[in-house]
Amino acid sequence: MTQVLPHPLLEQLRQICGTANVLTHEDPATDLSPWEQDWRKRVSGRALAVVRPGDTAQVAAVVKACAAHQTPIVPQGGNTGLVVGGIPDNSGQQIVLSMTRMNAVRAIDPANLTLTVEAGCVLQNLQTAAEQAGFLFPLSLGAEGSCTIGGNLGTNAGGTQVLRYGNARELCLGLEVVTAQGEVWHGLSGLRKDNTGYDLRHLMIGSEGTLGIITAATMKLYPQPAAQLTAWAAVPSMEAAVELLGLAHQRLGPGLTGFEVMGQFALSLVDKHFPHLRVPIWQDTPWCVLLENSDSESEQHARGQFEALLETAMAQGWVSDAVVAENLTQAKGLWHIRESITLAQVQEGQNIKHDISIPVSQIANFVKETDALLEREVPGVRLVDFGHLGDGNLHYNVQAPEGSDGKDFVRAFEDKINTLVFDQVKRFNGSISAEHGVGAQKVNKLPHYKDPTAMAMMRAVKQALDPHNIMNPGRVLA
Ligand code: FAD
Ligand code: MLT
Ligand code: ZN
Repeated sequence: MTQVLPHPLLEQLRQICGTANVLTHEDPATDLSPWEQDWRKRVSGRALAVVRPGDTAQVAAVVKACAAHQTPIVPQGGNTGLVVGGIPDNSGQQIVLSMTRMNAVRAIDPANLTLTVEAGCVLQNLQTAAEQAGFLFPLSLGAEGSCTIGGNLGTNAGGTQVLRYGNARELCLGLEVVTAQGEVWHGLSGLRKDNTGYDLRHLMIGSEGTLGIITAATMKLYPQPAAQLTAWAAVPSMEAAVELLGLAHQRLGPGLTGFEVMGQFALSLVDKHFPHLRVPIWQDTPWCVLLENSDSESEQHARGQFEALLETAMAQGWVSDAVVAENLTQAKGLWHIRESITLAQVQEGQNIKHDISIPVSQIANFVKETDALLEREVPGVRLVDFGHLGDGNLHYNVQAPEGSDGKDFVRAFEDKINTLVFDQVKRFNGSISAEHGVGAQKVNKLPHYKDPTAMAMMRAVKQALDPHNIMNPGRVLA
């Protein structure tokens, strides 16, 4: 009879977090796939263990134990990331540090307009806590029902309100972090002014778990708008969409809280796979735009502004048709259509995803040129274009030609198409990752597209903070 020897690190982790919170493959009844497989189900790894700490002291003790055994740690929140950043590699030697048990709202400070929350809190729960206290927490994205604030900060998530409120980074005033040495940095200050040297908070935000583990954060709150109105407009070209954006900025000022663009093919996929959502006015237009006006006065004021804006845009030929939601239910329905594009794409089969940003003034040229180059490379290729036009951020996704197999297409063309698109992004002074991050997916591409001096500084920071490379190795930096 063979005897399984106790694994010294696993024994230690069980003592720190409790046996129930250290999941391993030793128990054949335990399914670790929810932590080992990425959201798109394209990549799977194998973890030594999934460890679920309950507080910051446990996180620190886990990191110290892992550091002593030179065992890499992959922090994970809701595992909704789209760049293969939060799952283990397939060595069976990395632990997944799942933060979802640490989900408490620690404090709300109404006078300071801040909320302090643990990293594993689901974004939607944070939004609800803010709302119940009479405030708005504006970070908003399609995965908000399962992504966590730790993951949002780890990736510096964007979403649909960035043009008014900024990325996750702009919403964060303080962090509590466990370093790669297992020390706790208590930085939950909530200060709006603090010029005492390097801003470590901004190093941690967007570092995708490669520099330390975010255990809690102090986030900004905002007053709730008096009214929020949503409009859906058909636009004849990307140039027209950009003109409409300029007009909306001018007329609505800070009231413009959302400006999303959706290509006809992207909407046709929602119509095909989720017909009950009833996509409005998409058949006869190459693009639709979703606009949101958050008004501090009244619904009547917001509606008047929207109607005048759309009237001008129609007279200019920038909008061919439009609907304004009558009530909150209709507005939610329109947003739900927009948020369903990602899932509709999954239903259609594998595709090649890009999350790029380009100066808004160059987006129309970029799309025209790059569409033509792709058509030359793979005739019949279909483009699932949509995204946060207000931020110059397009999800410029490439789907196989009608009738061909998505998997075969991705296998044959992914590298070639990525290079084509990223070269174009570079030519237009853009970024190959606007909001999803680098993860393992773009780690080999990054050095080709990022400034070499910036890459060298990033490597120096990583070496200084995590000299033994135990924090999410192979992500962001190869
Ligand atoms: P995970 O996927 O678990 O992890 C993401 C990364 O953060 C990993 O590198 C991980 O190691 C690291 N990490 C996680 N927790 C911590 C922590 N506590 N400390 C340090 N590092 C940590 N993203 C956008 O930016 N905008 C969008 O509009 C958007 N829409 C989406 C819509 C859908 C339907 C889906 C599936 C995804 C979408 N995403 C979007 C991507 C994803 O939701 C975000 O990247 C989100 O911020 C990830 O949060 P998470 O908790 O799921 O993190
Ligand atoms: C979105 O804007 O919906 C997300 O970033 C998800 C995606 O790119 O599919
Ligand atoms: Zn997005």
